[in-house]
Amino acid sequence: MSRAAVLAGLGTYVPPRVVTNDDLSRDMDTSDEWIRSRTGIAQRHWAQPGTATGDLAVEAGERALKSAGSGDVDLVVVATTTPDHPCPATAPDVAHRLGLNAVAAYDIAAVCSGFVYAMASAAGAIAAGIAERVLVIGAETYSTILNPADRTTSVIFGDGAGAVVLRAGEPSEPGALLGHDLGSDGSLKDLIIVPAGGSRHPAGAAAESGARPAETYFHMEGKPVFRHAVTRMAASSRAILDRAGWAPESVDWFVGHQANVRILHAVADQLGMARGRTVVNLDRVGNTSAASIPLALGDAASRGLLTPGDRVLMSAFGGGLTWGSTALVWPRIVTG
Ligand code: ACO
Repeated sequence: MSRAAVLAGLGTYVPPRVVTNDDLSRDMDTSDEWIRSRTGIAQRHWAQPGTATGDLAVEAGERALKSAGSGDVDLVVVATTTPDHPCPATAPDVAHRLGLNAVAAYDIAAVCSGFVYAMASAAGAIAAGIAERVLVIGAETYSTILNPADRTTSVIFGDGAGAVVLRAGEPSEPGALLGHDLGSDGSLKDLIIVPAGGSRHPAGAAAESGARPAETYFHMEGKPVFRHAVTRMAASSRAILDRAGWAPESVDWFVGHQANVRILHAVADQLGMARGRTVVNLDRVGNTSAASIPLALGDAASRGLLTPGDRVLMSAFGGGLTWGSTALVWPRIVTG
């Protein structure tokens, strides 16, 4: 029988600084009313300048290892859009700072779908016998790439990190990931992009002019992204539900990427799931990209929503474009 990746621990961390919609309205032509009604977001956490993604990842990673009851892992995967450096990857430093000497460590870049991609990658490593226990972290500091002059993106994103420990186990165990559906459409890469700072448009030359160039900031075409997010997350969710043999109405909790409450409700509607089964924490943390799903899981667990035996569907969508879904029966774990 094939080896499954089984959820053994979960930990989350958000930086302490809270930025409310009213805080943003003081410096930007926006309002609490617009942000709440168009997105569902009331506040987000932004790291203090000088705090990097790896710092948040270490905090969440520590909590996940504690939750799993063991610091013993042989692979660390960090999903992020905002790595500490273009080179090297953030994961080896995070592994080092967690005291996980010499373990394999690499980053996954799939923007808001990063955590789902990272879990699939970790599950593949477990199935192949490459790893026994994997620490999977989604961590972001979007505050470092948001353009303060762009109200369409600045109000949406927050910083944070969430992590899980996946261990080798049986497919029939509670907590076993019941398959993975992943996809991409690179023809639409310009819809969600940081234009400069990579090899196509190195940032250095423009930066010498003084002010930070607009091309080094995050850019998103909200309206088409909204449409694609609903279509792709619904189709990907259906694929995973088929694989798990679950009817949509039998799902206890839909943990979707926390981009916009209107997207989550539209996906639930398309799947024929009650909106009340949608986990929502974006009102308090905003869109935290690769950290979104583990932060939502942690929030739902701490609010007592997730109980052992619950059927949980996870689905994400993001830049690339990328999307992906997975599902599990909630295990008995103490989250951190
Ligand atoms: N405050 C006030 N007004 C605003 C703001 C703001 N912060 N932002 C935009 N507006 C204005 C616009 O200028 C526009 O004005 P106009 O009608 O005079 O032109 C109006 O509000 C409507 O703007 P839209 O962009 O059409 O607003 P929409 O309802 O589409 O909401 C939003 C925008 C929230 C970005 C939405 O499109 C969305 O959620 N998109 C999907 C985001 C997503 O799914 N991301 C996931 C992937 S992200 C990733 O991978 C990193």
